[in-house]
Amino acid sequence: MLLSIPGVLTPEEVKLARQKLDAAEWVDGKVTAGHQSAKVKDNMQIPENHPVGRELGDLIINALSRNPLFLSAALPLRVFPPLFNRYTGGQAFGTHVDNAIRQVAGTPHRIRTDLSATLFFSAPDEYDGGELCVEDTYGVKKVKLPAGHMVLYPSTSLHHVTPVTRGARVCSFFWLQSMIRDDGQRTLLFDLDSAIQRIGQDHPSGPYAVQLTGVYHNLLRQWAEL
Ligand code: NI
Repeated sequence: MLLSIPGVLTPEEVKLARQKLDAAEWVDGKVTAGHQSAKVKDNMQIPENHPVGRELGDLIINALSRNPLFLSAALPLRVFPPLFNRYTGGQAFGTHVDNAIRQVAGTPHRIRTDLSATLFFSAPDEYDGGELCVEDTYGVKKVKLPAGHMVLYPSTSLHHVTPVTRGARVCSFFWLQSMIRDDGQRTLLFDLDSAIQRIGQDHPSGPYAVQLTGVYHNLLRQWAEL
């Protein structure tokens, strides 16, 4: 499942974050690339553990922990500390797949990457190109979202970022390990949860929402890995 999550950050948060990002130190993005993706990766990044990256990473994680759509769709177990990248002057990232396991820098912690996330800090009219293109079973989906919005997609997907031919594309990107490893099972739980929310609104005093909530939790109990 590929899902856009609107308004993860407010316009004010995006503006403040953007000022800090624009003033920060940027290095070659190959520092966090695997062997295969380093060959096709051409962008800039803020170094891992940079104070600005940490501060804004915490802002993102706090916002996500209060976002019902994100929690329902991702069923997150562990979230990798968000990283930040910038594409300008024709920079791009060719087709690749994200590493399956990532070590959190400076810690003994590793996460399995079930879902990849990109949160946009540039408005779409600030740059040309820079589409995130994700290949799934239905073809290629092109994603370019308003600032403050985020896309979630399975880390198993091949994906690329098209060249940025004008302006700058500034984003945060990170991965997460879900309690539900399998994308099909996770999508099914998300659909079920969405339907339960609607039934609860339409029939607040009926028994069906409670019964289906029981089904939801019993499926979660069967499938979740903690
Ligand atoms: Ni990637």
